[in-house]
Amino acid sequence: MTQMLLNQLRQICGDANVLTHDDPATDLSPWEQDWRKRVRGRALAVVRPGNTEQVAAVVKACGAAGTSIVPQGGNTGLVVGGVPDDSGRQIVLSMTRMNAVRAMDPANLTITVEAGCVLQNLQAAAEAAGFLFPLSLGAEGSCTIGGNLGTNAGGTQVVRYGNTRELCLGLEVVTAQGEIWHGLTGLRKDNTGYDLRNLMIGSEGTLGIITAATMKLYPQPAAQLTAWAAVPSMEAAVQLLGLAHQRLGPGLTGFEVMGQFALSLVDKHFSHLRVPLWQNNPWCVLLENSDSENEQHARNQFEALLEAAMDCGCVSDAVVAESLTQAKGLWHIRESITLAQVQEGLNIKHDISIPVSRIPTFVAETDALLAREVPGVRMVDFGHLGDGNLHYNVQAPEGVDGQAFLRDNEDRVNTLVFDQVAKFNGSISAEHGVGELKVGKLPLYKDPAALAMMRAVKQALDPQNILNPGRVLT
Ligand code: FAD
Ligand code: MLT
Ligand code: ZN
Repeated sequence: MTQMLLNQLRQICGDANVLTHDDPATDLSPWEQDWRKRVRGRALAVVRPGNTEQVAAVVKACGAAGTSIVPQGGNTGLVVGGVPDDSGRQIVLSMTRMNAVRAMDPANLTITVEAGCVLQNLQAAAEAAGFLFPLSLGAEGSCTIGGNLGTNAGGTQVVRYGNTRELCLGLEVVTAQGEIWHGLTGLRKDNTGYDLRNLMIGSEGTLGIITAATMKLYPQPAAQLTAWAAVPSMEAAVQLLGLAHQRLGPGLTGFEVMGQFALSLVDKHFSHLRVPLWQNNPWCVLLENSDSENEQHARNQFEALLEAAMDCGCVSDAVVAESLTQAKGLWHIRESITLAQVQEGLNIKHDISIPVSRIPTFVAETDALLAREVPGVRMVDFGHLGDGNLHYNVQAPEGVDGQAFLRDNEDRVNTLVFDQVAKFNGSISAEHGVGELKVGKLPLYKDPAALAMMRAVKQALDPQNILNPGRVLT
């Protein structure tokens, strides 16, 4: 049966695009190992379709054989959602060959791309045509738009442009039955029934396979300035956010907070990056002002904002990047926190959201709770404060092995943090999704009626449970 399926898959996609362990020269670890090295699965095969019809045929063949499918893009997901389990019976459906820009419609401000298009290539295609595609995140050099849609990725521009969901107008999807839904409309208004597009987005490959998407484009800003500000407390960071909204309006396109320990890890592991202002300040904030007039206007606005912030004591020191290169350097420091944390060792990662106004109290209370319950833990706090989304990460005490720390503490730490998140009316997953890592916790924190509707949707769309089983829902 297995051999028959593999032969069918080879017929559909071509021999070179069905990789198995039978060939000792082929290393499947790039598809089987998750980015954080939390899990190593074993696939029956890695299948690489070249077009939508091939995806549909693969899904039909797998459905007939009762073989489940794990859709995968760039494999940069952080919650173990895109790698196979260890049964050796699942196929990984790698979408990276389907990476074309299919169409651009400047008057409609849209671009249509295939799911395997790397985010950076989509940004570049938009830029080459004189537009901005604003989704931006540290993994943009290798994550794909299919994965971004699959996880409803956030990133650093959400405060102005929203999550990936807000950037998408239409989808082409292969259903669990192997049918093709031709939904690449590019319409900004369409009230003809249930919103299937938004149901697919963020479903982490459990409801359908996204093969292409029509995404929104924006005008490029006339000028873009970046500032790095030291703030005396999280309360001050929230106060600065309020001021920035007031004074910059829609010009505020980025507002990231970074804790002192998070920045110390960048300094320790990437000392050539020269992190500013971290040594004497508990928090730093990275702000971006995108201006529709000109650079001088942007600079004046920014300087007035920082002056007002210093007057009211919510900023103690600040630098404004003098050039694009300097600005990129500051963003690079921010994006390097994830890699610095990897260098430091395995950690418990969180991507929670809390109403912005309550974040200072949440952090103070939860820091104290963790210090009491798990003495010595080191908090790597950073993230998208503008969206109320914190990476409230917990690193093992100095000198303690990360693997042993996770084995003994992960579940307890997650419970402590998620109970606090629930108390503050937050979400246990604001960005990275549920995947496998949070699937056991979701029923404890999700509204029971919502969970029941989610189960009903999954049952209706994928009754055979062949699309990414065990992820999001069990
Ligand atoms: P994968 O990892 O391959 O897959 C992710 C999920 O989507 C899986 O469940 C998979 O089954 C599903 N999927 C993939 N392709 C499809 C498809 N075509 N159809 C249906 N389902 C599909 N995330 C953020 O939100 N914000 C950040 O700021 C951010 N920064 C990051 C920085 C670094 C350094 C790293 C390593 C990761 C970061 N991430 C961030 C997480 C990750 O990059 C995103 O989740 C990204 O959207 C995943 O894209 P991918 O192509 O790698 O997807
Ligand atoms: C980020 O904001 O840098 C990402 O979500 C990655 C991470 O949480 O480490
Ligand atoms: Zn993030």
